[in-house]
Amino acid sequence: MTQLTTARFITFEGIDGAGKSTHIGFVADYLRQHGVTLVATREPGGTSLGEKLRELLLHEKMHLETEALLMFASRREHIAQVIAPALERGEWVISDRFTDASFAYQGGGRGMDLRKMEVLEAWVHPQLQPDLTFLFDVPLDVARARLDSTRTLDKFEQEQADFFAATRHEYLRRAAQFPARFRMIDATQSIAEIQLELVKLLDILLEKNVASD
Ligand code: ADP
Ligand code: TYD
Repeated sequence: MTQLTTARFITFEGIDGAGKSTHIGFVADYLRQHGVTLVATREPGGTSLGEKLRELLLHEKMHLETEALLMFASRREHIAQVIAPALERGEWVISDRFTDASFAYQGGGRGMDLRKMEVLEAWVHPQLQPDLTFLFDVPLDVARARLDSTRTLDKFEQEQADFFAATRHEYLRRAAQFPARFRMIDATQSIAEIQLELVKLLDILLEKNVASD
């Protein structure tokens, strides 16, 4: 099997309940079966410090700018310890959320000034952007219905519909702003239909990598 060495950074985004976590394991397995060495990770989190920050971020009330700063603090550590070293080794990185989530949740949802967000982005990762971002898009009521009613919802999941409407709106604005990077997935489809669509997109990516080997 051809060993793919051209590093790729792929991120998964969407409002809570859209279904992105369901598909990350599938994508990781599919890529590995096709010769890709990869690191699967998540934000907030992905490092020992980042997972501690995640606990605070998901459960403690805080000022919206504190929230944004801690998201980027977790991200700084994640890039330094996990993402950059993996890409430098020629491995792929697939991450459950990255900076688009800060724009969508802290910018869109909470209403933080997007110019401040751009300053944080330029500070924390001036050179780094995902090569590909899957945006799992669903209407709010579909996402809400998918959230598991048997477990305690975290701070974000407990937000009201207007928060998620603003979050989704900012995701869609980002997707329109960066059309070359974003691939929208209609996440109202069945899991099987979404996996078929993902496979088609991944095959294109894999062919490109074989061609560039
Ligand atoms: P997210 O990570 O986007 O918050 P999850 O992947 O955890 O969402 O999915 C939330 C719930 O919805 C899970 O119970 C999952 O099994 C279910 N789910 C995910 N995708 C679909 C889909 N396309 N159709 C129906 N249910 C889905
Ligand atoms: P996630 O791991 O997707 O939640 P789950 O495991 O329940 O699917 O993300 C945790 C929460 O953090 C999610 O509600 C979105 C939020 N978040 C932000 O608000 N800003 C960010 O920059 C990131 C990365 C996540």
